[in-house]
Amino acid sequence: MQSTTNDVSKAAALLREGQLVAFPTETVYGLGGNALSDAAVAAIYAAKGRPQFNPLIVHVYSIEEAQRYAVFNTLAQQLAQHFWPGPMTLVLPRTANCPLSLLVSAGMDTVAIRVPAHPLAQALLNETALPIAAPSANRSGRVSPTEATHVEDELGGRLAMILNGGPCSVGIESTVIDATGDTPAILRPGSITAKDIAAMLPHMPYAVIRHPSSAVQSPGQLASHYAPSTPVRLNATSVVADEVLLAFGGTVPRGAKQVLNLSESGDLKEAAANLFRMLRALDAVGASAIAVMPIPEDEDANALGHAINDRLKRAATRE
Ligand code: TXA
Ligand code: MG
Repeated sequence: MQSTTNDVSKAAALLREGQLVAFPTETVYGLGGNALSDAAVAAIYAAKGRPQFNPLIVHVYSIEEAQRYAVFNTLAQQLAQHFWPGPMTLVLPRTANCPLSLLVSAGMDTVAIRVPAHPLAQALLNETALPIAAPSANRSGRVSPTEATHVEDELGGRLAMILNGGPCSVGIESTVIDATGDTPAILRPGSITAKDIAAMLPHMPYAVIRHPSSAVQSPGQLASHYAPSTPVRLNATSVVADEVLLAFGGTVPRGAKQVLNLSESGDLKEAAANLFRMLRALDAVGASAIAVMPIPEDEDANALGHAINDRLKRAATRE
């Protein structure tokens, strides 16, 4: 059942008491706690089973509020004005007397911050009047939750409350951008692409928008961050016995135990929204592997394919 205004008030009160509440955003569900409280942030790490060196995203209601916690240069201001509220996180220097818990930054002098677009997330932020630290509401190393039941399955016993906003419309996590310098660097690809950013920064050559390949700058980008239990086999054009298939497009190889199609019409937006739900469902079948059909990717027409393939590569990586 979808949550009501009453539920939002209850969730806001719980957050103010230092408890943890899961809530929907347009990207994925977040595991929220008061970002001003070291104890609440520590409880988030404990609930996720997350390594402490992995910093969290702070969610705020408005750009004005974000400016109390982070230093915005011209670039950061342009990005925030254009893309907030929305699926974009900015990594920025913490302000001089930043009241945010130091734990959210995991010891760094920067903070990752965003204004989410989901109405329930906005209602919650408005009502608590607190910055909310929230990683994706999954146990560490598992795929991100895009429905309230996913959160309930993995973290139910560890949370004071889960707000239900139905399935997330974007389905993959926000684009993380390092905006501490004069040029943006994409630390984690997402539905806002380098092409989208270049389109609103006409003075900035497209080539200048960096895609750092190393995982070092965004510690959450551990190679196997999104792993299902079942092995994942990428770029499958045929299926072997006992495999399940994550398909894409209208022409699907035969022989899989079960097939789920990210998008029969080949729509990458639809595929992103379905990705984590379908990975979870196929993981639950107990097959020898999840075969995944190729997802088209190029910088222009299929820029979102890059973000989807980023998640799939992580799902296929074993540590
Ligand atoms: O869509 C999203 O971003 C979701 C929803 C709930 O907002 N949140 C999310 O949080 O995906 P999480 O904690 O699972 O991922 C946060 C990402 C990680 O890759 C982390 O390394 C990066 O943001 N990050 C956080 N703070 C950072 C910082 N100060 N510098 C560089 N990267 C940072
Ligand atoms: Mg995550």
